[in-house]
Amino acid sequence: MNPNVRPDTMERITTPELANAFIDEQIAAIRAQVGDKKVLLALSGGVDSSVVAALLIKAIGKQLVCVHVNHGLMRKGESEDVIRVFGEQMDANLIYIDATDRYLDLLAGVSEPERKRKIIGEEFIKIFDEEAAKLEGISFLAQGTIYPDILESKGVKAHHNVGGLPEEMDMELVEPVKLLFKDEVRVVGEALGLPHHMVYRQPFPGPGLGVRCLGAITRDRLNALREADAILREEFDKNGLNHVWQYFISVPDFKSVGVKDGKRYEGWPAIIRAVNTVDAMTATIEEIPYPVLHHITDRITHEVPGINRVCLDLTPKPIGTIEWE
Ligand code: XMP
Repeated sequence: MNPNVRPDTMERITTPELANAFIDEQIAAIRAQVGDKKVLLALSGGVDSSVVAALLIKAIGKQLVCVHVNHGLMRKGESEDVIRVFGEQMDANLIYIDATDRYLDLLAGVSEPERKRKIIGEEFIKIFDEEAAKLEGISFLAQGTIYPDILESKGVKAHHNVGGLPEEMDMELVEPVKLLFKDEVRVVGEALGLPHHMVYRQPFPGPGLGVRCLGAITRDRLNALREADAILREEFDKNGLNHVWQYFISVPDFKSVGVKDGKRYEGWPAIIRAVNTVDAMTATIEEIPYPVLHHITDRITHEVPGINRVCLDLTPKPIGTIEWE
């Protein structure tokens, strides 16, 4: 039997009961595979790595070492969330690395999108490698591979995921959710007690806000983007719009003229994009009610220093890709 092929007989995990049965099965399998050895996991805070972390914590506790690298391009509160949920609530063995300065120094002046992606991906491998070298007695590498990753290894995700993990890391893999689809991973995550917002988090590109802070990233514009994005997410939550597949802000690297308190006020535009899709190959535009848009505009322009306009991107994919870069 090929371990990377989902058996026809495998029932779709749709209920907490089925999730609990899966969890029990996986705990036994993980313990059998790992014994008393240590396992390393890159914990980004995305759905898949979070569920794998929770499962492994349940199975082997402190034998799991989680490494969370904050590249400074996370959404507001996301690294804090990882520390709170895994470090504090689940009492995991968590190594937190704030690599913000390292990334932003490397990215300074780099405007070409694929070059930005490459730098972000390569730096992650370097940092992860450095951390792994400091640890002793690690025998296994856990990964949040899910079934679509196996099925679509030539698809959008593979094309984008320049990050990946060091290939030369000669460790046996632990991939407990590799035969699950995303909806099943979420059911399992909730059964493991992970917070709803973490389990139902919208997809977030590996390079994070790096591909939404358009052109060469600067700290002030990145901060403005992060704050505007947090307001957008808060308002989508409050207004029952968080079913939308992906919604975010991009901030281009040019300013326009505005006026504030009777004085000239130059600022960047914040561009809202809210799309629905099934597989990210095509996407349609969510209709956001105008009162919500007015309120978001009002909040962003008043609360975020440096932003003086809000624009709405109405372009479907094709012709526009989901991300601007
Ligand atoms: P595009 O912009 O190609 O995006 O229409 C399709 C989906 O992929 C996400 N995306 C990325 N994901 N690394 C990732 O992990 C990346 O470099 C990357 N670029 C785009 C995008 O958010 C959308 O969900």
